[in-house]
Amino acid sequence: MFKTIIEPFRIKSVESISMNTEDQRIKFLEDAHYNPFLLKGEQVIIDLLTDSGTSAMSNKQWAAMMNGDESYAGSQSWERLEKAVHELTGMPYILPTHQGRAAERILYGHLGSKGKYFISNTHFDTTRANIEFSGAVALDIPIPEARDFSANHLFKGNLDTIQLERIINKRGEKNVAGVILTVTNNSGGGQPVSMQNAKDIKAICKRHGILFILDSCRIAENSYFIHEREKGYAHRSFREIAQEMFSLADASIMSAKKDGLVNMGGFLAVRDKSLADACTQLLIITEGYTTYGGLSGRDMEAIAVGLDEVFKPDYLHYRIVSTRYLGENIRQKGVSIIYPVGGHAVYIDAKALYPHIPVHQYPGQVLVCELYRIGGIRCVEIGSVMFGKYDEKGKLIPAQVELARLAIPRRVYTQSHIDYVVEVFDEIIRTKDSVKGLRITQEQHFLRHFTAHFEWIE
Ligand code: F0G
Repeated sequence: MFKTIIEPFRIKSVESISMNTEDQRIKFLEDAHYNPFLLKGEQVIIDLLTDSGTSAMSNKQWAAMMNGDESYAGSQSWERLEKAVHELTGMPYILPTHQGRAAERILYGHLGSKGKYFISNTHFDTTRANIEFSGAVALDIPIPEARDFSANHLFKGNLDTIQLERIINKRGEKNVAGVILTVTNNSGGGQPVSMQNAKDIKAICKRHGILFILDSCRIAENSYFIHEREKGYAHRSFREIAQEMFSLADASIMSAKKDGLVNMGGFLAVRDKSLADACTQLLIITEGYTTYGGLSGRDMEAIAVGLDEVFKPDYLHYRIVSTRYLGENIRQKGVSIIYPVGGHAVYIDAKALYPHIPVHQYPGQVLVCELYRIGGIRCVEIGSVMFGKYDEKGKLIPAQVELARLAIPRRVYTQSHIDYVVEVFDEIIRTKDSVKGLRITQEQHFLRHFTAHFEWIE
């Protein structure tokens, strides 16, 4: 009825933001070698680097933390977390990990090896890195509509099931170690995946005897879109929709730092006992004993509460509507974004914004630097810095997209912060033609975007 979006919470404890000037930020950026991962948190005004581990916890979560049982074995906090995850996923074996990539390392380290393939709607960077580190190959097959940023498809996060069949037949079903459905599809624009797509994938995997893995770190947000858009789900609760999607999968990895509404935590859930046993060995070697994994008792308490709170209709509605508001308002200024707006972030098409900057001069990274210089906003490049590779001659094989992602922490920023971000885009647009490209001066082989150094090309 009213168009102003209000946060469905009151603020009980506040954290100061230290304001700074553009001159200061130019210096900070230079010191950080034009890589905002190397900035100090206190140098940032609005931090949209990630929605991961950046949530504000509720009073109920903080209260639950006081009940943390720090027993090495048989902690009551573990019992509470195991029950919460079990009820949500329906999976019998739950392995607690300190975050999502620890679960990835365990599962893909066990399943992956040279000659094996994993197929996904789009592998997230740590997913891809863990798979490639095992020697296996990660193949992305989003639906063709996903490549068109403005195509108005309701479930642009879907996996292309025709290609899936084709790849399985070409590579041989024995060589496909798993199909990973990431909901929502983070690296593909935070776009939702339909229940029908999950059902189709399940059927294909079942027919070929291939493991179907759900990367469920944003499954509550995905459930909101299914509820909103998919026939037959308008009267189902968000939680029931998530439960149905889990019921289709053989295993699931969750970074609880997203829809778990906590600052640290994750889990691996599996149906098959022998797979669970193999993974448990690795869990104990690298994370910790089975009743805490990489977590303290208080962390487990907070996750158990967070997994309940995230499905509350008022929260989820505000979450999606607020992200949509940011995306729609930036788009109205003529900036190209991945459209429709996804669940946790707005993805800006930097190639379209800076057509004069070639891909080997990293237009996405340029936009990331400009947002910081102009507005003190920190975000991340998803493009050829993150996913670019080199051929044998050292020439860049660019990524398919050059994006900057504005990821929104959960329950942290208010509507006026969001309005400020929208306003910063006026200046981004006004100055866009005079912006130069960047070159990399230092980098690592795996996940180079975290540590690379850059300089401006004069
Ligand atoms: N899978 C997806 C889809 C993710 O988005 C992430 C993390 C992970 C797995 C790994 O989880 O960080 O707990 O180890 N995404 C963050 C992001 C880092 O900014 O998108 P983690």
